[in-house]
Amino acid sequence: MKIAVLASGRGSNFESIAKAVKSGKISGEIAVLIVDRKNIGAIERAEKLGVNWIYVDPYGYSSREDYDRKIVSILKHLQVDLVCLAGYMRIVSEVFIESFPNKIMNIHPALLPSFPGLKPHEKAIKYGVKVTGATVHFVDNGIDTGSIIVQAVVPVSPQDTSSSLSQKVLELEHRIYPQAVKWFVDGRIEIKGRSVIVKNANYSTLPIVPALEDF
Ligand code: GRF
Repeated sequence: MKIAVLASGRGSNFESIAKAVKSGKISGEIAVLIVDRKNIGAIERAEKLGVNWIYVDPYGYSSREDYDRKIVSILKHLQVDLVCLAGYMRIVSEVFIESFPNKIMNIHPALLPSFPGLKPHEKAIKYGVKVTGATVHFVDNGIDTGSIIVQAVVPVSPQDTSSSLSQKVLELEHRIYPQAVKWFVDGRIEIKGRSVIVKNANYSTLPIVPALEDF
């Protein structure tokens, strides 16, 4: 199975997936890392890991759709089966989604449907929630609205800042994202309307549902 990762920044989630593939925990290959910015951590990590990366300049295209058409053509050329958005700061257009139906995943550092979009940790603290977390979901036309694959819960203490919270959540992101990819690659994910079911998974324990098996 061929996996592509799209990133715009630091790239720590990209690295967690790439390492799981390299170690053989996920049986597939990372076909490419596509980035929409230069000089980012994700590129450095790709070079260290020996992953092929491509920069596609967003300013070279007159619309979001044209930009996505270019990306889709690269992904199709490489025969990519699964696309993972990992800190990718662009909203993907219908063109992209229709080319990879139920084959685009994203990770969002909140318990969706709470706090979609930008600055979720700030929003969580401002709201005063006592738990937050991370969600891996399929991508649909909305912002962080697609069907949920796995969620991890983290407690919020009165001392937490958005940076301390993001650190706690990030540790779990690095476990649930590769796990979701592995479930997909192993053919364990069943989609029924909005509901995503991981076959034979354990849905009865916190803090991660379904429970992690490999990470
Ligand atoms: C992560 O918190 C991810 O959930 C969010 O953006 C951040 C990206 O971090 N979508 P990194 O680039 O993977 O280190």
